[in-house]
Amino acid sequence: MAGVRKGIGLLLLVAAVSVVGTIAGLKLRGDAQKPEVALAQPVAAVPERDLLRATYDPIHFQPAIATARDEQCLACHREVLDDRVRERSPAGIRADASKAWYQQTTVYAGDQETFHRRHLVTPLARELMNLSCTTCHEGSDPRDEAPGTSATGAAPGAARFTLRKTVDTAATCLKCHGQLNRAVMGLPGAWPDVKATFNNSCLLCHAAIRTNRHRVSYLKADAIEAAGQKDAETCHGCHGGRPWYRLAYSYPRHAWEGMPAEVPAWAKERPTESESRFRTVAVNPK
Ligand code: HEC
Ligand code: HEC
Ligand code: HEC
Ligand code: HEC
Ligand code: HEC
Repeated sequence: MAGVRKGIGLLLLVAAVSVVGTIAGLKLRGDAQKPEVALAQPVAAVPERDLLRATYDPIHFQPAIATARDEQCLACHREVLDDRVRERSPAGIRADASKAWYQQTTVYAGDQETFHRRHLVTPLARELMNLSCTTCHEGSDPRDEAPGTSATGAAPGAARFTLRKTVDTAATCLKCHGQLNRAVMGLPGAWPDVKATFNNSCLLCHAAIRTNRHRVSYLKADAIEAAGQKDAETCHGCHGGRPWYRLAYSYPRHAWEGMPAEVPAWAKERPTESESRFRTVAVNPK
């Protein structure tokens, strides 16, 4: 008997809860349909607090991203410069005691750093380069990183698009992390093996060859020449010394004083000027 009474009690409780729930639900729905202003105002006033709107902020897409300044990106993405690497790995290995081979060259300085800091704020980066967010980031669709899957995404076969990457690596990284194209230079071997023959200097030849170089907004041309005079490792650093790729970048071939009239076969397809978006000696707006 006691079991049946308990059962009836439970049934009543469930019924009561669902009645209360229905009333509350109706009330909520009514509220949602009511005034639009109450909802719209706070969202419009603090767009950066709304994750969805911020993710789809026009600044992430062309054409707005082409003229975006670093400070605009950093207003939401401060973490790319604020975050630092751990001093010790969780297993206790000290970061400053575990340097990779390229971190022991003469052109590596300072503590271990994150990728973004290494290209934007470390001493060498500041001395030689003037990269901005949009040097590498030309826009990406947060919905998907594959072509042809949405109206706003990259078209199938689109130029300057790398599957599942937000940055076109072949158009950016390869410029400074490819191989030294020693075939076109007639160098008899890899630079570390033959450099003694050439006075340890790229400028032995490059004081007179392809002298019209680095005139782009993201590099500091004069500082690079000065550093290259002191230590060819600086030149090698961006041209074969930190190669994350097995291929060499096809640099534009700017005319230079004393240039032979005949264009060698390998250079026939080469552009004769840097990409237009970098073609300015003026410092990037920051
Ligand atoms: C209004 C704030 C805001 C601004 C301004 C902004 N972003 Fe973002 N960004 C976001 C948010 C939010 C996301 C999505 C984060 C997530 O999904 O975890 C995002 C995502 C990204 C991603 C990752 C995309 C992916 O698919 O993983 C990149 C890269 C990025 N932003 C670069 C930039 C650059 C470059 C600029 C300047 C041109 C910029 N953002 C300006 C808020 C902003
Ligand atoms: C040297 C090229 C380069 C520069 C300069 C650069 N980025 Fe990136 N950024 C990358 C690459 C590469 C990734 C990783 C992309 C991927 O995973 O597909 C990335 C990833 C990101 C992401 C995704 C989250 C993360 O940390 O991985 C954000 C956000 C971002 N960058 C913002 C910025 C902002 C803001 C600036 C300027 C202050 C900037 N980047 C400058 C190359 C660059
Ligand atoms: C304009 C030249 C330039 C471009 C473009 C460039 N880098 Fe670098 N990168 C450098 C220089 C210079 C250093 C060394 C800085 C130093 O030693 O302080 C470096 C260092 C690195 C390191 C070593 C980081 C460390 O702390 O050990 C990695 C990894 C790297 N780059 C990856 C990339 C990737 C990926 C891209 C493309 C998204 C890229 N770089 C684009 C010039 C460039
Ligand atoms: C023996 C002379 C010589 C030395 C030493 C030399 N180069 Fe070159 N380099 C050349 C010649 C020749 C060319 C091709 C000129 C032309 O465009 O006809 C060239 C072309 C280049 C190019 C453009 C490649 C391309 O595909 O367009 C780069 C970058 C370069 N050299 C960097 C360096 C660096 C960095 C060093 C030192 C580590 C160096 N060179 C040492 C002779 C030399
Ligand atoms: C911070 C990275 C960096 C350093 C350091 C550097 N280069 Fe370059 N170099 C580049 C980039 C990026 C380009 C392509 C620029 C462009 O698109 O016009 C380039 C282009 C060149 C070219 C092709 C010139 C042409 O016809 O446009 C030569 C030659 C060259 N560099 C030689 C050198 C020499 C010699 C040194 C040392 C004095 C040196 N580089 C140091 C990044 C670097």
